[in-house]
Amino acid sequence: MPNDNFETIAIRLQTERSQYKEHSVPLYLTSSYKFDDAEEMRALFANEKEGNVYSRYANPNTTELIEKMAALEGAQTGWVTATGMAALFTTFAAFLAAGDHVLSSRSVFGSTHQLLNNIFPKWNISYSYADLDKKEQWENGIQENTKMIFVETPSNPGIDIIDLEWIGALAKKHGILLVVDNCFATPYLQQPLKYGADLSIHSATKFIDGQGRTLGGIILGSDELIRQIEGFARHSGPAMSPFNAWILSKSLETLAVRMDRHCENALKVANFLEAREEIKQVRYPFLPSHPQYDIAKKQMKQGGGIVTLVINGGGAAAGRFMDRLKMFSISANLGDTRSIATHPATSTHSKLTEEQRLEVGIEQGTVRLSIGLEHIDDIIADISQALQVD
Ligand SMILES: Cc1ncc(COP(=O)(O)O)c(C=O)c1O
Repeated sequence: MPNDNFETIAIRLQTERSQYKEHSVPLYLTSSYKFDDAEEMRALFANEKEGNVYSRYANPNTTELIEKMAALEGAQTGWVTATGMAALFTTFAAFLAAGDHVLSSRSVFGSTHQLLNNIFPKWNISYSYADLDKKEQWENGIQENTKMIFVETPSNPGIDIIDLEWIGALAKKHGILLVVDNCFATPYLQQPLKYGADLSIHSATKFIDGQGRTLGGIILGSDELIRQIEGFARHSGPAMSPFNAWILSKSLETLAVRMDRHCENALKVANFLEAREEIKQVRYPFLPSHPQYDIAKKQMKQGGGIVTLVINGGGAAAGRFMDRLKMFSISANLGDTRSIATHPATSTHSKLTEEQRLEVGIEQGTVRLSIGLEHIDDIIADISQALQVD
């Protein structure tokens, strides 16, 4: 690469092109590859030679996406999967065995809760939770069999934040693998590996795609750790399709400009909401009222595109607010060009009990806003009219 500026890597890093000299990345819709002869087949399967074999393992589109994402996030390499949850499942399954324990942030995406609470215990893998802002819970939560520390920062939907440098040092001191779900920040805003994380995971479905089109998951880390992921993923099959990798590779070309605008719009929305008396609480990393504002400023380039609010009046007020929105979509996705409102208690986190939800700060009045790329005046006008009480 001519230089290491984020935008230039995202646009210019590319794998080898074919004899047609495609300018943009072509799409390789092929499930398998031919070998020149029996000896080449043997050498490729024996890992004595590099090359494409079968698209469950790798494909030029997934390879280009991995190389770009690794360069953008300061990782040696990576692996891609069909969805963000497949990336999380693959990572847990590749590193954890019966008898191991995971110490996880309490505030995590709903399906991640389900993996830890209901799925991995079936294989005798246990978990416990710690609050992102309570250092003593992390220090005291480490057990003899703790194999992995897992954090989501900023968290979904609470926008809680942990000091990555601090948790990186703690994990290192105890020789425990630190895995960070970096979905809300993207590599443009936060690069966890630089603070001591071993693996950084993305749901590429969100801001990386950025246009609400496709699902995808990405895992980034060292050659050694990703080889372990590969060992599990090649044979268990959570592969990303070449088509989705092609979309996501193209999406990365515009990630920086999109994120700049998402963040600019979201900060304006957060400031607007904070001044409104209908709102009990606003959570946004770059609002000075955020309890971990200083940490957010230290480790994030900007605050991201998600603003979470708690409206006075509980579930009824949240429902009324959402139903009155004219432009915002009501949807469970986030990170789209379109602004989206989600009610976590009845959607993404509906499988938790009310008590578990309250523990992670999700009230019936909590609404998660994914701030899109429409004109900021229209975004604020829509929120403002939806807050009016007749
Ligand atoms: C923080 C976080 N991690 C993981 C996921 C799961 O990603 P996917 O829907 O691509 O499986 C999501 C989805 O919303 C998320 O918000």
